[in-house]
Amino acid sequence: MNLPVIKPLIDTFGRVHNNLRISVTDRCNLRCTYCMPEEVVFMDKHELLSFEEITRFVEIVAPLGIDKIRLTGGEPLMRRNLPQLVSMLCKVPGIKDVGLTTNGILLAPLAQSLFDAGLRRINISLDTLDPARFRQLTRRDGLDKVLDGIHAAKKARFHPVKINAVAIRGITEHEVVPLARFAREFGLEMRFIEYMPIGADHWERDKVYFAHEILEQIEQSVGPLVPASDYDAKAPAQDFEYVDGGGRVGIIASVSRPFCMSCNRVRLTADGKLRNCLFALNEIDLKPLLRGGVSAAEIANLVRGSVWEKWEGHEINTARFVKPQRTMHTIGG
Ligand code: GTP
Ligand code: 5AD
Ligand code: SF4
Repeated sequence: MNLPVIKPLIDTFGRVHNNLRISVTDRCNLRCTYCMPEEVVFMDKHELLSFEEITRFVEIVAPLGIDKIRLTGGEPLMRRNLPQLVSMLCKVPGIKDVGLTTNGILLAPLAQSLFDAGLRRINISLDTLDPARFRQLTRRDGLDKVLDGIHAAKKARFHPVKINAVAIRGITEHEVVPLARFAREFGLEMRFIEYMPIGADHWERDKVYFAHEILEQIEQSVGPLVPASDYDAKAPAQDFEYVDGGGRVGIIASVSRPFCMSCNRVRLTADGKLRNCLFALNEIDLKPLLRGGVSAAEIANLVRGSVWEKWEGHEINTARFVKPQRTMHTIGG
């Protein structure tokens, strides 16, 4: 049998794109200060792509080489019947892997049905184990629910379960060691993400708690680390392993060590906009095309064109940096 020849989604820097992040809602049951404003008007429900429209899009881009999907939000579990979407996407020929990034609040009762629908990789956001600090950062209560969600994910046999903490100076110094110990105890992969200028609050470089500081703290107070055996210098997360075999730690150093030159990602927002970068200033509105019976070939060409035009990368570290209009909760991380 002749396999179809895939002409990859490539840009002018030679980067091949196989990774699609789909935001399924901008709604969230938390209000993390680094992500969204306290008061926010969410999209109208009819603005959102339906599961059928999302699946149609994935069917169009899978033949272009997209084989990895991550569902994001807002909080993706706020979208009703998400396991159904997971199952629809897992069935699309060519899709090898569907993941989810969630804040964990609604996860406990859904973990098993998500796993049964075909989801395998799950990342759960958790910045602190202290209930007061949790409330300060998320402007809501709910730490217990997140912890229940994490344990339910383990119980449902998700592997790996990654815990994401945004690294903010003045806050994360107090959290690194307890979070790292917690992750070791429960067989989770702890990841720290340098705070980026994509939220609603005022960002400045001095507010980032940097990768090297985090690693130093862990090595001093938790245990020595070595680069993981599958360490990939080009991957967004720099992965380390404890020398004593106590698990893994990942650092996403988007500010101090940008990984744009190996970026393989495109994004679809909940309202059907295609973004070729997390920090993109332009987007393509695909919703009318997905709704209006435009041919798959035309939509595929637009996707190719968008990827081809992708810029070199975000310019967080330069005076040229322009913050996108959308805040993180309407892009999906
Ligand atoms: P996989 O690669 O699918 O395993 O997942 P991931 O680690 O990218 O997923 P996750 O959603 O956990 O991403 C972690 C964090 O990395 C996000 O919350 C963002 O803060 C950051 N991030 C994700 N994608 C990008 C990107 O394209 N550029 C930058 N600068 N940061 C990103
Ligand atoms: N900088 C870095 N990461 C962020 N996230 C949200 N806002 C920011 C930011 N300003 C991450 C959260 C979560 C994901 C949805 O996005 O940690 O894991
Ligand atoms: Fe919600 Fe996630 Fe944004 Fe926090 S980071 S407000 S959990 S979308």
